[in-house]
Amino acid sequence: MTLLSMENVEFAYGKARPVLKDISFSVPRGANVGLVGESGSGKSTLLRLLLGLDSPQKGRILFDGQELKARNAGYMRRYRKRVQAVFQDPYSSLNPAHRILRIVTEPLRSLKLPGDHRQLARDAIEAVGLTPDTLERFPHEFSGGQRQRIAIARAIIARPELVLADEAVSALDLSTRVRVVDLFQDISQAMTMVFVSHDMGVVAALCDQLVVLDRGHIVEAGPTAAILRAPSHPYTQSLLASIPRMPVPAHPNPQDPR
Ligand SMILES: Nc1ncnc2c1ncn2[C@@H]1O[C@H](COP(=O)(O)OP(=O)(O)O)[C@@H](O)[C@H]1O
Ligand SMILES: [Mg+2]
Repeated sequence: MTLLSMENVEFAYGKARPVLKDISFSVPRGANVGLVGESGSGKSTLLRLLLGLDSPQKGRILFDGQELKARNAGYMRRYRKRVQAVFQDPYSSLNPAHRILRIVTEPLRSLKLPGDHRQLARDAIEAVGLTPDTLERFPHEFSGGQRQRIAIARAIIARPELVLADEAVSALDLSTRVRVVDLFQDISQAMTMVFVSHDMGVVAALCDQLVVLDRGHIVEAGPTAAILRAPSHPYTQSLLASIPRMPVPAHPNPQDPR
């Protein structure tokens, strides 16, 4: 069953030419859909529309069978209970003046959700692989990877049905990135996810379906395995070719001057 879909969506910033054109795709409930494309292809704009931060000039967005009403405050309050986001920058996304407890429980307060917020924070922080003492500390005490885990804890604490992630691992160094991708893999078991990245390697590892965006158009969409096996569009072929090869120093060659 479809949880989220876009139908013939077009969007332009102001009077400029559209940055998204005739966008149609759907996200089945429980799926993990990757949205991939080069920088400037329109990925973040598409996510802003899914978050209701902007509205399409043409077409529509459906969530759970209903049109997303970005300008209806009551609707958006209910929507936010069901949809949460994780963004790229683990340094600017956490308020430096607040303890992690306050940061992680923010959705519970803004959504006026009942329950023991401290206990829910403990559960969320453990679910992302951090210890409960994290909650008493401040953002500057943590590394980029730990901060992104904290941002993920905040995104999942209200048990959303859908998590939208925009370049959520792109700022992390390679080994940290691999571990945070593993974490996304874990949490995606329990919810639907749309994972945006310019990095085909990350998206291919994480998502069962791909949507490939090129200059505001969808150029390819379908199951990840099928696209990896036989990319039909030259743009997808070039994205695949750009996946960095993993260094495998299995048999170091003594003659190799490196
Ligand atoms: N606030 C904005 N105002 C005007 N143009 C924008 C704005 N944000 C992004 N754009 C333009 O929209 C296009 C798509 O950008 P974006 O959605 O950020 O792409 P991506 O996330 O794939 O890098 C780019 O040409 C970008 O310059
Ligand atoms: Mg972007």
